[in-house]
Amino acid sequence: MSEASAAHAPDELLTVGEMSRRTGVAVSALHFYEQLGLIASTRTPGNQRRYARHMLRRVSLITVAKRLSIPLSEVQDVFADVPMTETPSHEDWQRASRRWKHELERRREGIERLERELTGCIGCGCLSMKACRLLNPDDALGASGAGPRRLDDEETA
Ligand code: FES
Repeated sequence: MSEASAAHAPDELLTVGEMSRRTGVAVSALHFYEQLGLIASTRTPGNQRRYARHMLRRVSLITVAKRLSIPLSEVQDVFADVPMTETPSHEDWQRASRRWKHELERRREGIERLERELTGCIGCGCLSMKACRLLNPDDALGASGAGPRRLDDEETA
């Protein structure tokens, strides 16, 4: 029996189907989240899963993360300090949402930088290893020595 059942009477537990209906998350995804340790269940004597109600909030948090394209490994980090016997608190959510907002800002800055570089390339077409920052960002190829290696690498890949 897992930690999740310790503080909950059987009538407070949800079946996997109920969890799926209430969260809109497929049963297979719930099983996957459980494999990753993001949620936990107990088993009935007939070996059926039962989830404590507070797992709904965990699944909601995972769903938000997925909408933001936040990797599940990031969600694992957020949950690392939240015992399975507890509902993620308001503070846990504040911490996660601040962290994910920073991640979105970082991505937006990256996309804006790529957009500026692409704008510079429009109408150019030189595709020069020396001049084109999209082709060779921060002269990454130059750091590994002279010569046209990228096309050679692609041909042998
Ligand atoms: S294609 Fe010429 S600078 Fe990118």
